[in-house]
Amino acid sequence: MRKTEPRLQRKLLAWLLGPLLVLLVLDAVAAYWTSQRFANLAYDRALHEIAREIVLHARPGTPHPRLELSEAAASILLMDAQDHLYYRVDAGDGTVLGGDASLPKASLPARGTEPLFYQETVHGQPVRMIAARMPVDEAAGAPLVQVQVAETLNKRTRLALEMMANVVLPQLLLIVAATVLVWFGVSRGLEPLQRLRNAVSNRSHLDLSPIDTHDVPGEVRPLVDEVNELMARLGRTFDFQNRFVADAAHQLKTPVSGLKAQIELALRENDPERVRHSLAQLYISADRLSRLVRQLLSLARNEPGALESVQLQPLDLNAFALEVSMDWVPHALKRQIDLGFDGIEQPLMIAADGDRLRELINNLIDNAIRYSHEGGRVTVGTSRTAEGLCKLAISDDGPSIPVAERKRIFERFHRLLGTQQDGSGLGLAIVSEIAILHGARITLEEDVDGIGNTFSVLFQPGAGTTPQDAIGSLERTS
Ligand SMILES: Nc1ncnc2c1ncn2[C@@H]1O[C@H](COP(=O)(O)OP(=O)(O)OP(=O)(O)O)[C@@H](O)[C@H]1O
Ligand SMILES: [Mg+2]
Repeated sequence: MRKTEPRLQRKLLAWLLGPLLVLLVLDAVAAYWTSQRFANLAYDRALHEIAREIVLHARPGTPHPRLELSEAAASILLMDAQDHLYYRVDAGDGTVLGGDASLPKASLPARGTEPLFYQETVHGQPVRMIAARMPVDEAAGAPLVQVQVAETLNKRTRLALEMMANVVLPQLLLIVAATVLVWFGVSRGLEPLQRLRNAVSNRSHLDLSPIDTHDVPGEVRPLVDEVNELMARLGRTFDFQNRFVADAAHQLKTPVSGLKAQIELALRENDPERVRHSLAQLYISADRLSRLVRQLLSLARNEPGALESVQLQPLDLNAFALEVSMDWVPHALKRQIDLGFDGIEQPLMIAADGDRLRELINNLIDNAIRYSHEGGRVTVGTSRTAEGLCKLAISDDGPSIPVAERKRIFERFHRLLGTQQDGSGLGLAIVSEIAILHGARITLEEDVDGIGNTFSVLFQPGAGTTPQDAIGSLERTS
């Protein structure tokens, strides 16, 4: 199995580390800027001191003061292990009294003796410069000279970097430590999810047992519960389908064996009259088999999942039920059954799928004629109930279905014990499925004294309803 890093873990780390690193960079810039200020403060003072020392070697004179600073003395004064220092002294009239004349001359304000510190470039190198006007003597009225001292930036940069490192390094270590801790923390926190994933991916496609929720984190628990619920439902559906396939195969096996036996018998016959008789029997068996297959197909066609294929159209239940009942008159007559219709005057508009509704009525009339006694009476009726529902009722005067069986006869393949008539026990299951697709409700009542059965189907009135609407409104009213 491919081992991929949990995306959640990567996301958490990215969200934590990204902003932290940006903060670290900003902090480093701020720290460097502040450190540079402090380094300048410290070294500017020393530079000021050197400027003062140089001016101590100035003497008053005419026409301008003199600077008595030998080269040897100057180099001792400006000696520094890390930086180069330059100086320049100017008289008030602009004469260069000493030092490096190539040093750019500072333009100091006309008055005042406050020193000026600034960045400058000397001999192609960045330097820190002090420029100040100082008296050559302590005596009052002594002439002023302008002194400038420049120093390269090596010490200052080094100090600023050291100070910045002192601030930023511990922070960097902290971030590294936090990353490691978060990495471990998140990995450990996500371990149950990884286990869950392994448990699901390692199971067989036939295993629909619930996932163990023992150490599933609380946040994921509802999801796992939902998945378990779904698996339980799938399991029930699989069981149901398996049983159905087994039942259907069993139901098909018997008539197919019967057909085979009858064919073998017919093949052994020499008498043409007996062969004819066998063929007639074969025809009846094949007819039964083909009905069973039709019922099975119909059952599959009307499964609850077929909701999309249902074509609801406005339809007058009254006229429709009459039309379907008329088709049954010849068959009823054969069994000497009085098939009647008891409709209402006005149209009874419902939204229905015509083909499916025909199938529903056919199955109910077929049962009524099939299971009531010869010479009996079967009535198809339509009416509007007190609640405004559109009712279709098929009644017979045969023996009542026992109360205990009234629910079970709607199950697939369920037939009453001792039923003599042909049938496979699928008709009412189909009726029930079609009713569900229409959002209709079925009731079964007996007539008085254990005689007769009335199957009623109650539809929502109205022509524009969809199956979902119909089911929804039925759930609200029931
Ligand atoms: N009107 C009725 N009167 C008495 N018993 C009935 C009536 N309708 C149904 N039953 C009983 O309910 C059982 C189930 O009926 P259902 O229509 O589901 O199957 P079936 O008629 O046996 O077979 P199929 O309709 O698939 O050919 C029947 O076998 C019968 O025992
Ligand atoms: Mg039937």
